[in-house]
Amino acid sequence: MNAFDLTGKTILVTGASSGLGMQCAITISRHGGTLVISGRNQERLQKTFDHLEGKGHEIIPADLTKEGDTKSLVEKLPLLNGVIYSTGISELSPARFITNESIEKTFKISFDASVLLTSHLLAKKKLAKANCSLLFISSISTRYPFVGGAMYISAKAALEGYARVLALELAPKRIRSNCIAPAFVKTPMLDGTAENYSQEAVKKIEDQQILGLGEPEDVANTAVFYMSDASRWITATNLILGGG
Ligand SMILES: NC(=O)c1ccc[n+]([C@@H]2O[C@H](COP(=O)([O-])OP(=O)(O)OC[C@H]3O[C@@H](n4cnc5c(N)ncnc54)[C@H](OP(=O)(O)O)[C@@H]3O)[C@@H](O)[C@H]2O)c1
Repeated sequence: MNAFDLTGKTILVTGASSGLGMQCAITISRHGGTLVISGRNQERLQKTFDHLEGKGHEIIPADLTKEGDTKSLVEKLPLLNGVIYSTGISELSPARFITNESIEKTFKISFDASVLLTSHLLAKKKLAKANCSLLFISSISTRYPFVGGAMYISAKAALEGYARVLALELAPKRIRSNCIAPAFVKTPMLDGTAENYSQEAVKKIEDQQILGLGEPEDVANTAVFYMSDASRWITATNLILGGG
């Protein structure tokens, strides 16, 4: 038996229309998993869908900052063996410019969306009770912060705390809850973040990662491990994928 095989597992990936979520979905399909992919942009979701291997995959678009969309997504879902939460935005702002609006905007998508989705998944009993795995994408920046990242990093730190409590509450159901904390990975989000910094500052960040910038595959391969039964004894962790 191959403990990394995902055949027979149905996995929801949010933020699957871009970057890490997109690659997680594609790599999981290559390991035999059946995907439900979600995001707002239908054209980009279709692009992800076209790269999936195997059959039985589904697209369910949703804006996870809207409760109606979240509820309707959950209603349509089959029983899940895993969820990868890959939604997020990285709007940066020096501390003195933080406003009510910027707090609300960042937390709504980077924290509330995943938390409320999980509440609905639990209420509607959509998580299988044997070796189900929830994987939240946090960020290495909760340990190694960067200037201007106060809101982004605070929302990720909140998510990490939430994921640990979830691990405690759901262990009796054999549902695991973990975080991964990547450093900088080449995705559209990183391109957007880099625009706010000088070339020199970006180079400095890159140089700190001794194995260089990550590729989406580096995160996706780790996600396969967390979705598989190979990680069935692992919960409440937060794994740094930092390139050293
Ligand atoms: N790239 C990095 O270097 C890095 C490092 C550490 C952590 N992370 C984290 O990894 C996750 C994925 O990042 P990424 O680099 O893949 O970013 P990305 O390419 O910008 O993807 C973000 C995803 O979030 C979705 N999204 C945004 N707002 C949404 C909403 N209201 N409802 C539903 N979906 C929404 C987007 O889909 P739509 O636009 O279609 O809605 C998109 O699929 C994020 O949580 C990010 O903080 C990234």
